[in-house]
This record gives sequence, structure tokens and C-alpha cells, in this order.
Amino acid sequence: MGSYILNIGVLASGRGSNFQAIIDSIESGYLKARIVVLITDNPEAYALERAKRHGIPYLVIKPKEFSDKDSYYSHIAKELKARNVGLVVLAGFMRVVGRAIIKEFPNKIMNIHPALLPSFPGFHGQKQAVDYDVKISGCTVHFVDEGVDTGPIIIQSAVPVYHDDTEESLSERILKQEHKIFPFAIKLFSEGRISVEGRKVIVNADRDESVIINPKVG
Ligand code: GAR
Repeated sequence: MGSYILNIGVLASGRGSNFQAIIDSIESGYLKARIVVLITDNPEAYALERAKRHGIPYLVIKPKEFSDKDSYYSHIAKELKARNVGLVVLAGFMRVVGRAIIKEFPNKIMNIHPALLPSFPGFHGQKQAVDYDVKISGCTVHFVDEGVDTGPIIIQSAVPVYHDDTEESLSERILKQEHKIFPFAIKLFSEGRISVEGRKVIVNADRDESVIINPKVG
């Protein structure tokens, strides 16, 4: 078997609760992987505190310091490659990543989105769901391609939307599921249980493990 261990690079812009869920999954032994770097575009991101607390190396890389999107993402890709990153995780990274990083990590960048894609891509997926008044929403982990939240879907979790939900109450319900399915998707990847054929993602897991429906959540 050897002693292969997946090196993860995390990109986050804010609070970092998904980043924390991944840290916790590693520390508990659920996920056999190592976070080798946190990269943020935001010097105020609370995710930085979490990195410091857990001894995870971090970099603040601001887009303003680069002439264009390509040079920004080539620089980030270079930092990730230098640390032998095998999987890039977007954990609340509030930017549409550029071609320069996607081409370096094909089907090796995972994003979590707070809606059931292809519904409500882009920003404020939870508010879009409340405004539209759908009855079910949820979250999606997908590989990143050049579109906005259009890449191959790995796993989704559904939650109900109630008539009196607000953006905040729905976000909270969805977030609990994010914290479960993101570490799970990363675990599947780290164990080589995910294969991609075009936009089809084949997950080697029990059927009811790879589609999570939570009719009674919260
Ligand atoms: C999460 O809800 C994540 O799904 C969402 O931002 C939040 C980050 O929370 N991401 C997006 O909307 C990406 N377009 P966190 O910083 O506590 O993980």
C-alpha cells in the first residue's frame, strides 16, 4: 500500500467553517489527508485564525497585487504545485477561479456550493432559493471547470425550505449538510473512489451514501 497521503490546498475568503470541518475530519482520523496550505484573498478572513490555531501554513494573496486574473491564478497554482498539492479545495472562496489554475489541476479542484446545482449558481445561492420559493434546496460538491458552478457534480445533499425561512435560517440548515458532504467528498477522492468521464462522476460508494436526502433536517 505504501504511505501515500493526499496533500490538500484550501482556498477560502471568509469565516472558514467548511475549512474547519475539513480540519476536524483530519484530526479525528476520518479523513487521511494533510492540509499543506491555506490561501486567502482576504487578510481579514477568519479562516486565517483557524489556520494559525491548527498550525497550518497560510498565504494571503490579493488579486490587487497582480496585473490580471491569469497572473493571479498562475501565481496561486505555482504556490500549490510547490507544495505538491493533489487536491485544491474551494471552501467559501468567493471568486470565480481562472483558467490558469484549472488547467494545472484538471478535475482536482473541488468547490462547495450552497444550492442544488444547476439551480441557483453564483453568489447567494440560499437567498436565490428563498426568493424563488423552492421547497427543496441543499448543497453541491462539484469539480471546478471554467464556468460558474457548472463543473461535474460529485455529491449533493437536500434539505427542505420552509415558507417562513429567511436567507439566514436556510443558510444555517444547508451549512450543517455542507460540513458533512464536503469532508465526505474529499475522503472519497483521497481513497481513489471518484472517477470522472466527461461530466459524469462515478462514485464508488453505496448508492444511499452518494445521494443524501434529508427530509427531516432542522
Ligand atoms: C458556504 O455556505 C459555501 O457554500 C458558500 O459560502 C459559505 C462559506 O462559508 N460558498 C459560495 O457561496 C461559493 N459561491 P464558510 O466560510 O463558513 O465555509
